[in-house]
Amino acid sequence: MLTIALPKGRIAEDTLEKFEHAFNEKFIFEDRKLILEKSGFRFLNVRNQDVPTYVMHGAADLGVVGLDVLEEKEYDLIKLLDLQLGKCKVAFGLIKGQELDFSKSQITVATKHEKIAKKYFEKKAMAVKIIKLYGSIELAPLVNLADCIVDIVETGTTMKQNGLEVGPTIMESSAHLIVNKNSYYAKKDLVFNLKDKLEAVL
Ligand code: PRP
Repeated sequence: MLTIALPKGRIAEDTLEKFEHAFNEKFIFEDRKLILEKSGFRFLNVRNQDVPTYVMHGAADLGVVGLDVLEEKEYDLIKLLDLQLGKCKVAFGLIKGQELDFSKSQITVATKHEKIAKKYFEKKAMAVKIIKLYGSIELAPLVNLADCIVDIVETGTTMKQNGLEVGPTIMESSAHLIVNKNSYYAKKDLVFNLKDKLEAVL
């Protein structure tokens, strides 16, 4: 049996669809149920940011998570396969017409992605003040909470509709299948069978 943590929402649905193709079986969570057990798999329905935590602690053998979320957690997990779902980038959002002013003594950045933003400025040896937010990040520069934002950009529509422009990209992201290190060795056959089957339908 393999336990797989899936991030609630579209990525979970798209991942289960890939499983359906790979194993010729229907995998659907019943209304509000958080566990789905079928054909040797146990799927867990968890919050996006919690996926690496379940896998790190071994409560799930595998998980599906965006590289951006993984980067924020800095856990020691194995990336097994790029599922090529949920493609997006982590980028700056700037007030229209403005540019990142690297000559400023300190830039204030609002973001959900604290570590990714911090690392970016560390590499440039620049002082940064990070303001951690949990959502509606685009609002921050509009009300002078921050000079700019670092956020997920998929189509760019959210930034555009809020008077922001997409600035430099920090990283590209997509959903990856990740594995707990112990499971990787203890359940090697199951894990690699799954990897091969999924790869064949990608
Ligand atoms: C992300 C991000 C933006 C939006 C960008 O939020 O925070 O608000 O998507 O997408 P776009 O470029 O296509 O407009 P998400 O939907 O992941 O919700 P969250 O804030 O709850 O993470």
